[in-house]
Amino acid sequence: MEKQTLVWAHRGASGYAPENTLEAFRKAVEMGADGVELDVQLTKDGELVVIHDETVDRTSDGSGWVKDFTYARISRFNYNRTHKEGYERAMIPTLEEVYELLKPTGLTINVELKTGVVFYPEIEERVLDLTARMGLEERVWYSSFNHYTVQRIKELNPQAKTGMLYCDGIVNPVSYGALVVGADAMHPALYNLQYPNYMEDCKKHGKRVHVWTVNEEQYMRMVCEMQVDAMITNYPDVGRRIAAEYLD
Ligand code: G3P
Ligand code: MG
Repeated sequence: MEKQTLVWAHRGASGYAPENTLEAFRKAVEMGADGVELDVQLTKDGELVVIHDETVDRTSDGSGWVKDFTYARISRFNYNRTHKEGYERAMIPTLEEVYELLKPTGLTINVELKTGVVFYPEIEERVLDLTARMGLEERVWYSSFNHYTVQRIKELNPQAKTGMLYCDGIVNPVSYGALVVGADAMHPALYNLQYPNYMEDCKKHGKRVHVWTVNEEQYMRMVCEMQVDAMITNYPDVGRRIAAEYLD
């Protein structure tokens, strides 16, 4: 096999610990993940916080929009709702706290900017500044479903590594990603791999492929066989075990 498929833990090891919490990122490290994926939004007072939804309702015991809370207020809720057992209390981490945790580990960090619903002021600048300040520029991939955000990241820092997130319905997504968005990688939903010549197209345009969310063993094997660059999974331990089967 020419190339190993890397394993990135989706929202941390979210199959085992509350998603997007330090506990989930620690678990990802323990489980031997090569990287983590996380979601970023912005509080009212400009703190970059790691949370998937625009509201805190699904993942915490609170209610309301991230954009309407100060950091002091949003951090009072308990974010253990996606995994309560063994996790009496889980905090919402700032992006800086996650960077601090992961910096010594060498793991890759895929920061997904959640800018599709709320247009957070200058979130792209804030994320880039923090990454630079923490000395993590070589290890961070930026992705977004909002392709204006992907373009903006590149505009602000042409060296930044960007991924174009998408679901379905884009005609010629690889050409679009390469020529319009200017992304360095495609971040397709798993089912997009079945379009004819997908991997060939990506190779032709020099685009890496980081696919999500790959949670079942049969699909983990499939993406390894296709030589996808990284699988994003809730179960990084399973991903690593399967990926190891495809090592030389
Ligand atoms: O970045 C991959 C994946 O996380 C995109 O979807 O909704 O889980 O953020 P979502
Ligand atoms: Mg995400």
